[in-house]
Amino acid sequence: MTRLLVLGADEAFIARMSVLPGTQLVAIGTERTDWSAFDVVRILDPQSLPDLILLGARVPLTNALGIAAAAHLQYPLIDLVLVGEHSADTAVEAMRAGVRDMVSASSSEACFVEMMRRAEMHGPASATVASPAAASVPSEASRTIVVVSPKGGVGKTSIATNVAIGMAETMPHDVVLVDLDLQFGDVAATLDLAPARTMEDAFGPDAAADNLVLKTMLTAHSSGFFVLCGADSPAANENVTGPQIHRLLEQLSTQFSCVLVDTAAGLGEPTLAALEVADEIVLVSTMDVASVRSVRREVDLLTQLGLMPVERSFVLNLADRQSGMKVKDVEAVVGIPVDVVIPRSSAVQLAANHGQPLMLHKKRGEPFVKAIRALLARLERTAPAADNKHRRLEVA
Ligand SMILES: Nc1ncnc2c1ncn2[C@@H]1O[C@H](COP(=O)(O)OP(=O)(O)OP(=O)(O)O)[C@@H](O)[C@H]1O
Ligand SMILES: [Mg+2]
Repeated sequence: MTRLLVLGADEAFIARMSVLPGTQLVAIGTERTDWSAFDVVRILDPQSLPDLILLGARVPLTNALGIAAAAHLQYPLIDLVLVGEHSADTAVEAMRAGVRDMVSASSSEACFVEMMRRAEMHGPASATVASPAAASVPSEASRTIVVVSPKGGVGKTSIATNVAIGMAETMPHDVVLVDLDLQFGDVAATLDLAPARTMEDAFGPDAAADNLVLKTMLTAHSSGFFVLCGADSPAANENVTGPQIHRLLEQLSTQFSCVLVDTAAGLGEPTLAALEVADEIVLVSTMDVASVRSVRREVDLLTQLGLMPVERSFVLNLADRQSGMKVKDVEAVVGIPVDVVIPRSSAVQLAANHGQPLMLHKKRGEPFVKAIRALLARLERTAPAADNKHRRLEVA
């Protein structure tokens, strides 16, 4: 079996390639216009590399050569083939970038079969055992952090998206944010992303069987992390099961150092499935009696179910002095200490409505940004080591 990755080709060409005997094909970016060599190399799973990358006619030449050079440098065993009619000068430039061959989109089937045969002979799949779930990030090195709350509208998505932006500063291209609010997820809108693929595709059999395919379902955010966006239709994932979610998150944790999960309010099956694989929970509440009491019940239930991760951050969001409750009242009701207090700030909603979360602009002194930094310090374990006493990172 020859593993073939086709970048930026039209549907007709992809259809021709997919019927070549003994070929396992993944195609990316038929409609894509922004081609970053870094992003392409990043989606390659070192444990199940393609034998051949076809640089299709829709990838602008400069980008194609950039991708070829980057891929060749990192994975010299992969055959790189440029599709299209090119001049002799371009051919020389392409060969210098590591391109092995050039073919025309209208070449004969025999030509493509020969190209595949050569790629298989010395491609990485022949050198390594291709294993879909093989880890490129050792599982103990990856952390899955799940953001939950019993009530809706308390700021889970705001926190998850801003934390992802902050984490990308220290772990560029190594963080994935998963929108597990399967019915009404709004991570894509909050980040102003227009995903070509969504969660719906990620639960398909192809993605479940192959990390490379799964990575093609992710959308890159300009600040340097990846997002698995929610499906357009609330009904799209209604039959998704806990084990499927389990599998998806475990697969992602083999590919990224941090898997950050935004969830729907309450303890639905997706959230429980995520908590089964979570290393850390971020519990979010607002400062009103109903929300605080629900958190208490949620903590009790999760503890009974054995689903309360050891690492825990309790976050009070939308904090203001008018709420009538004090932080110590909240702690008394819930029975656990509050770790971070995030103040109410009118700039948060404004920024989210423009698809530009506040962390993007990193305004120093903005209380919300300071609070997210405090949470990041906890999550990244860079907070000053506490002695035995619990210390709240209070920023309100
Ligand atoms: N600290 C804050 N200050 C002001 N507004 C905030 C703050 N945090 C969140 N918001 C606003 O509150 C609203 C709800 O936030 P968000 O969508 O993040 O909540 P959620 O818990 O994800 O909701 P849902 O359960 O519906 O998914 C949004 O309009 C958001 O901009
Ligand atoms: Mg939300």
